[in-house]
Parts: sequence; C-alpha cells; structure tokens
Amino acid sequence: MKALVLSGGKGTRLRPITHTMAKQLVPVANEPILGYVFQHLMEAGIKEVGVVVAPETQEDVKRFLKNGGRWGLKIQYILQDKPLGLAHAVKTAQPFLGSSPFVMYLGDNLLAEGIKGYRERFLEEKLDAFLFLKEVENPKAFGVAVLNKKGHITRLIEKPEKPPSNLALVGVYFFSPKIHQAIARIKPSARGELEITDAIQELMNMKGLVKGHILEGWWLDTGKKDDFLAANTTVLDDYIKRDICGQCDSQSQIIGRVRLAKKTKVIGSIIRGPVVIGEGSQIIHSFIGPYTTIGPYSRVIHSVIEHSVLMSHCLVENIARLEDSLIGREAQVIQGENHSKALRLMIGDNAVVEV
Ligand code: DAU
Repeated sequence: MKALVLSGGKGTRLRPITHTMAKQLVPVANEPILGYVFQHLMEAGIKEVGVVVAPETQEDVKRFLKNGGRWGLKIQYILQDKPLGLAHAVKTAQPFLGSSPFVMYLGDNLLAEGIKGYRERFLEEKLDAFLFLKEVENPKAFGVAVLNKKGHITRLIEKPEKPPSNLALVGVYFFSPKIHQAIARIKPSARGELEITDAIQELMNMKGLVKGHILEGWWLDTGKKDDFLAANTTVLDDYIKRDICGQCDSQSQIIGRVRLAKKTKVIGSIIRGPVVIGEGSQIIHSFIGPYTTIGPYSRVIHSVIEHSVLMSHCLVENIARLEDSLIGREAQVIQGENHSKALRLMIGDNAVVEV
C-alpha cells in the first residue's frame, strides 16, 4: 500500500505565520506537523509515500523531509500547480498511485493514536474507502458525515451551512483505486475545488463499499491559531517527558515535565512543565509556565510566558505576561516601560512589537 501526503494548499487561516512558512511545517512542541504524519506512516508499515507540494512551499517541505531517510520511507514529490482541492491533488498524483490502494493523510492533521492497524482492516474488509470520524463542536468547518441507525455512512457533505450531524471527517482516508473513477465523475464545488467529500459521496452512489470509524483519541486540524495552540497543549500533555540537557544555574527551578534541549541556558528562572525549550535558547530571569514551547535559539528575558508558542530565533523582553500567543520566527516582543496588562498576540515572522 502507498501513502499520499497532502502538503500543498495555502495556509490562509494561519496567516501571517503561513505567509513565510508552509502550514504543514509549523512546529508543534518543536516538531513540524509533517514529522508526526511521517512517524504515523512509518508505524503503519508504509514504505512508499507521494508528497503533494505547492510551488511556493515545495523547497521548504523538501528541505525538512529530504528523501524520507529519517523514517525509512521512500518519497516521491508531486507538484500541484494550484490548490484546486483534495480530489484534484489525488488526480495529480494518479501516475504515482497507479492501481495501488493508498492512505491519504492531510499534512496539517494530527492524530493521537496514529493509523496503525487500520490498514489491515481496510484490506481485509475489501473496502473502497475507510474514513475516520470525530465528534466536533463546529461541524460547519469540516466535511460532515450522516450515519444511519446501523452506524453506516449514508451521506457526506463538505462544510455544510446547516450541519446534519456533528461527526466531522478526519483528514486521513484509506482508498481503493476505485476512487479515481469517482473523482473523474465530480465537478468543482461552489468554492471552485474538487472536493474529496464529493468524490466519496460519488463512490457510494457507484455502490462502492465505504465505512467509517469513530476515533476515540484526540484529533486536531491545526488550521487556526487557537486550534494550533490546542495542538501544542495536547502534544505537550501526551508526549513530553522530563529531559534536561541544557545548563541551569542554582537560582533556577525546573518543575515537572520539561524538555530542555542541548546548549540551552536557564538563569535565575522558573520553568513549570509541560514545557519544551529548543536548542540554544536562553531563559533569563523569567517564568515559563505550562503548555509553552520555545523554539530553538530564542531568548526570553525578564518576562512571564504561559500557554504560548515561540518559534525559532525570537526575543521576548520585559513582558509582564504573555499568554495564548503564537510568535513567528525571528519576531521580537519587547516592552519599553513598566506595564502590567496581559498581552494576547498573533505575530508573523520578522515582526517587532514594542508596547
Ligand atoms: O481536516 C479535515 C478536513 O480537511 C475535512 O473535514 C474536510 O472534509 C476536508 O475537505 C479538509 O478540509 P480543509 O478545509 O481543512 O482542507 P485544507 O484546504 O486545509 O487542506 C487540507 C490539507 O491538504 C492541507 O495540508 C493543504 C493540503 N491541500 C489542500 C488543497 C485544497 C493540498 O495539498 N492541495 C489542495 O488543493
């Protein structure tokens, strides 16, 4: 079985961060989301992966994934000129997929339990599509499934105005090659995209065998700032173990599950986990509170930070309290005069904020 990872598209909902960065490369607990996707594919025993890329971000994606060696996977890159929809991405990848069954994994989706074991079920039951579903509070933002009393899927609708259920389609799908015939029969939606949801609905109309499975573990679509901070919180909660590699002076306290990478320096500060601090970062006379990720080579001086993500090479200085914030690469948040109000920010790469 092959895999198709969708790493194209435009990250409009996570702007300005995604003005300068592919959304699939935005780091969660200092690991790009694509890293978790590839880990899951490896664990599921996949060997060959096609990665759909966009012209603007393909170089960055390739720089991170290289030839897949880190996960023992063989990668083929597939250029999609325009983000014309998930089904269009499958169409573009058809020469790579051939007549192989495949798992399609959206590069901005994060799943707690991965996909191990499901491939066997899909193949044994000879399904044409095997989908994952999850109850959500805002079904309007997703593809939505309607189930009958027996729990079988009867209908799928993409981002409905009036959602008929709260069961969203998760961004991982197993397909037989029959999906290509279904895609050939659909037309672009009102938003001008070839929707995979419409293709699966068409597959059902063609009497294809489609089944859904309601996920028990968490699932996160990292599309927006709050979803992204929720992803950071969940991953810190689930995956982070205490691991102190950097230097910490006698005036500092490191409490709970904190991962301090090599070449980090903590001076006169308190760090209360779960927290991850990337290589070469410095925390000076500051408090870093739970659910915070500090990217590599960043500096936090005389500040308090909680429930936030700082990417690489950031500077936060003299900030009384920074919370619920997402700070892009090389951004600086500096406070000139005494000020004690909490700040809530979303700042793009290279920005400088003086308050
Ligand atoms: O996250 C789950 C949702 O993903 C499903 O519930 C929806 O049914 C499905 O349509 C999709 O909705 P989104 O609006 O979240 O999709 P988005 O445009 O964010 O694209 C998902 C991923 O696929 C993202 O990593 C970018 C990539 N992509 C997207 C498009 C439209 C491509 O590679 N090519 C494309 O043409």
